[in-house]
Amino acid sequence: MTSLVSIANSDISFPCEPDERILDAAERAGYTMAYSCRKGVCVTCRSNLTQGKVKIAPFGSPKHAGEEILCCMAIPDGPVEIAPPWIEERRQPARVSINVTVHKMDQRSDNVAILHLRLPIGRRVPFAAGQYISVAMEGGESRNYSIANPPRLNDIVELHVRHIPGGMFSDTVLKKLRPGDVLNIALPFGLFTWSDDHSVPAIMLATGTGFAPLKSMIQELIDRNISRPVHLFWGGEREADIYELELVTSWARRLSWFDFTPVLANPGTGWTGERGFVQNAVTGRYDDLSGYSVYACGNPIMIEQARALLVEQRSLSAENFHSDAFVFSGQAEKAAQPAA
Ligand SMILES: Cc1cc2nc3c(=O)[nH]c(=O)nc-3n(C[C@H](O)[C@H](O)[C@H](O)COP(=O)(O)OP(=O)(O)OC[C@H]3O[C@@H](n4cnc5c(N)ncnc54)[C@H](O)[C@@H]3O)c2cc1C
Ligand code: FES
Repeated sequence: MTSLVSIANSDISFPCEPDERILDAAERAGYTMAYSCRKGVCVTCRSNLTQGKVKIAPFGSPKHAGEEILCCMAIPDGPVEIAPPWIEERRQPARVSINVTVHKMDQRSDNVAILHLRLPIGRRVPFAAGQYISVAMEGGESRNYSIANPPRLNDIVELHVRHIPGGMFSDTVLKKLRPGDVLNIALPFGLFTWSDDHSVPAIMLATGTGFAPLKSMIQELIDRNISRPVHLFWGGEREADIYELELVTSWARRLSWFDFTPVLANPGTGWTGERGFVQNAVTGRYDDLSGYSVYACGNPIMIEQARALLVEQRSLSAENFHSDAFVFSGQAEKAAQPAA
């Protein structure tokens, strides 16, 4: 039976189909609310359940009024009222599920592969720089990967995939992929996109393949001839983790508005650049970020530490900290709901 979801202290309500998750139903009705992983891991979509009862897909125990829920996992069990931090009407690029062909794979470093996918001839799928796709796998599993190409090139998808030993996609599936193979993907997802005026200077922080969505965003500025001041701090353990060093260095050489600082935690003896963690490299370079926006992507621990450091110690406005955490998307369906 269809259930009605009402938003507390507002006149917003929308229907939720049987077994439909609240986040999906909100989007189907034309609303956007906070989310990132859609897998029950990142807790970005948490909301208070103020009335009614929800089931938690697919294994969790039910939640009742007064408890906190994750809207990407919660399925109403009858009419419910929720109080999310925000919800708004927003036009999103239409989301599609589509078969794409593997064009080529490039092993860019010992643990990062760049995967080039092609949409069927004549098909284009609009997306915003910074968004991600979901790749379908056997058994109903899926994995999220950020789109690394700029929105102008919307008949291809470039993914930067870090190898996780034993990983279902990044090890098993990727190892067997050959040019010409077909993958089913859904896109676009995500709210990690340019969220402010391009006159505001931006600091970007990436760890590892967290560079992928930032590459799309920077290339969009280049494509649209927008001279937004951007300083990219890209961190890793060792040299191989900055797997597009040449490309980014070339941007820094030719674009007056773009600055680049690579940061390594455990570099080899020949490294002359910054050492340590990206978030500390930013605080070492900037005393006051009150007039800045920050875009951070990659390791969830880096993101949480960067948020705390930059907001508490460098006067960054919390609403100007934008992030996408690469939480593990496998096993997520079994992840626990936040403590009530
Ligand atoms: C919004 C979003 C965007 C993402 N974009 C990217 C991207 O552009 N590039 C990219 O490489 N990844 C990205 N990820 C992570 C990606 O979705 C997968 O979680 C990751 O590739 C692991 O999937 P897998 O199937 O290879 O491993 P799984 O089968 O999911 O995991 C196998 C084992 O490895 C562990 N594990 C999983 N991930 C890690 C890790 N990072 N470190 C240590 N252990 C781990 C798991 O706990 C499990 O035990 C993104 C995640 C999100 C939520
Ligand atoms: S979007 Fe719901 S937990 Fe990540």
